[in-house]
Amino acid sequence: MADSVQGVIAREKGAPVEVAAILVPDPGPGETLVHVQACGVCHTDLHYKQGGIGDDFPYFLGHEAAGVVEAVGDGVTDVAPGDFVILNWRAVCGQCRACRRGRPWYCFSTHNASQKMTLADGAPLSPALGIGAFAEKTLVASGQCTKVNPAVRPEVAGLLGCGVMAGLGAALNTGQVSRGDSVAVIGCGGVGHAAVLGASLAGAARIIAVDVDDRKLEWARRFGATDVINARADDPVERIRELTGGFGADVVIDAVGRPETYRQAFYARDLAGTVVLVGVPTPEMQLELPLLDVFGRGGAVKSSWYGDCLPTRDFPMLVDLHLGGRLPLEKFVSETIALNDVEKAFGKMERGEVLRSVVVF
Ligand SMILES: NC(=O)c1ccc[n+]([C@@H]2O[C@H](COP(=O)([O-])OP(=O)(O)OC[C@H]3O[C@@H](n4cnc5c(N)ncnc54)[C@H](O)[C@@H]3O)[C@@H](O)[C@H]2O)c1
Ligand SMILES: [Zn+2]
Ligand SMILES: [Zn+2]
Repeated sequence: MADSVQGVIAREKGAPVEVAAILVPDPGPGETLVHVQACGVCHTDLHYKQGGIGDDFPYFLGHEAAGVVEAVGDGVTDVAPGDFVILNWRAVCGQCRACRRGRPWYCFSTHNASQKMTLADGAPLSPALGIGAFAEKTLVASGQCTKVNPAVRPEVAGLLGCGVMAGLGAALNTGQVSRGDSVAVIGCGGVGHAAVLGASLAGAARIIAVDVDDRKLEWARRFGATDVINARADDPVERIRELTGGFGADVVIDAVGRPETYRQAFYARDLAGTVVLVGVPTPEMQLELPLLDVFGRGGAVKSSWYGDCLPTRDFPMLVDLHLGGRLPLEKFVSETIALNDVEKAFGKMERGEVLRSVVVF
């Protein structure tokens, strides 16, 4: 018997999101039914709604979530009813070419639930990032549930399921920031602030935050930024070079994902430095760079998918750091909201008024 719950869907490109009845099937083999307690509003949800990710409407939005396992299907042994879990979109398969080579954070065949959640009339939904968690219940593959210490507040824990993990991991895993490095982060939303925090955790000496909004820059200082640049007032490339002895930063993280911010990241790093692209571009965006500069500047030009995280390795560790007072994840939660406030929350995100609005149930 399927459960009927209220969930947030994007019915067609660009239309306001709406709350609709969603049928969530009982878990089949390898699947888990999760009672969602909190789900953050990520810019990626907005990309889905705007048609920037695909055309498989209707989308079932929400993917930064934490909750309690309600039921499991046949063969599920890694989680059990009552477990407190963070949902992830990297349930590694263990068998693809990346997994077999010992690089599961690149897994090319991650697991999602096999059964479809649907609208009341049976129309199948496309869950955002294979999750769909702006609803009291959701159905996922059991590997999408990562058990963590239940002492953490759900609205904080859920953020590790996407944006905050993406930013922390862009600095810690992809950028390999280490003690004494200089780091610049372009774009200080939830993802960019988490990259600033990750750089700070890794012991970076100088952390330069760049945004077009002074309010965001003020917040960035609270996450560990030592210097801030408003890209509307100053040229970020010149300023980052000035702040790093004329050379550029060791690691520059683009947490916006536009050709102009990527170009800034590319030229604001030191020779042999690292550029990390964690912001997600849209399909029409193009980049042109002199190939000689790509060669001549050396170093590494990387993308960071989900912060190159491994949920089983990273989520419990980050929750423990948070509970030990060393990772102030609660600062990302600007407000808690109800399910029918998601459209309003997108507006606040676009106007830069919030870091994360989190739906709580
Ligand atoms: N790679 C991944 O795995 C992953 C995971 C989650 C989110 N993302 C992506 O990361 C990006 C950021 O997400 P978010 O939730 O932090 O979004 P957000 O909207 O909260 O933040 C974006 C920030 O960029 C700033 N900005 C916009 N244009 C700028 C410019 N030209 N120069 C400097 N700053 C500028 C905005 O003022 C804002 O502070 C999105 O593209 C999102 O889809 C990627
Ligand atoms: Zn794999
Ligand atoms: Zn996200």
